[in-house]
Amino acid sequence: PALATTTSAAAGVTNVAHRGASAYAPENTIAAFELAGEQGADMFELDVQETKDHELVLMHDTTLARTTDAEQVFPGRSPWNVGDFTLDQIRRLDAGSWKSADYEGERVPTLGEALRMMDGSDMGLLLEVKSPDLYPGIEERIAAELRRHSSWLAAGRVVVQSFDWDSMRTFDRLMPDVPVGLLGTPSTGQLSGLAGFAEQINPQYGTLTAAYVRRVHRLGMDILTWTVDDPDAMRRVIGYGVDGVITNRPDVLSDLVSS
Ligand code: G3P
Ligand code: CA
Repeated sequence: PALATTTSAAAGVTNVAHRGASAYAPENTIAAFELAGEQGADMFELDVQETKDHELVLMHDTTLARTTDAEQVFPGRSPWNVGDFTLDQIRRLDAGSWKSADYEGERVPTLGEALRMMDGSDMGLLLEVKSPDLYPGIEERIAAELRRHSSWLAAGRVVVQSFDWDSMRTFDRLMPDVPVGLLGTPSTGQLSGLAGFAEQINPQYGTLTAAYVRRVHRLGMDILTWTVDDPDAMRRVIGYGVDGVITNRPDVLSDLVSS
């Protein structure tokens, strides 16, 4: 199934900003998503996890240590697992200073805040369910949040992906009209079974081949690859026929496809 989002015209490749324009702005923040839009991204990617009180927040690592000041704010709470803190506690954290003083005071958004604040953008959303094994029932809570922000349910505007393929089977049963993507590189033998519920296969780009892209396409699925920041590597995977490139540098991809 084709993505309904606008594609970068020249290459017809969907430009997906990985954790937002995360080469330049702190990952998984509203600032990074807004910058992605300014840099010509067609979609922005984010990572969803759950707080101790079952609120959905955007964080890549399963701990708060790398991308917030949790170690200073909550000393002695090592290793600062996301799921050990309430939303109220996580709201106190600075999620911007680690990247640059320009982003001091940037907060960890909830999924609901991101859906509300980015609704006016013309971008689609690639929503990664991160480590769902740590958060039983997270699929239901994400489905409920998407239903609360129903403008995102326009055909193809949201794709939900995970490295946990069972979690994506679960999500597909809950929201069969929302496309799901499988992160990783399933074997040829696995692919046809996965095509029964998945719309995308999203592998790391290093070992990707044109033959693998053809195999995925023959089964009726799209293929988006990550995380590609180097223009030569972008050209290579576009040459393989991928449908989308997930990059920390959406501006580089925008320049490449418009030149
Ligand atoms: O969207 C692909 C990519 O986000 C998967 O890896 O570790 O950056 O979440 P990671
Ligand atoms: Ca991710």
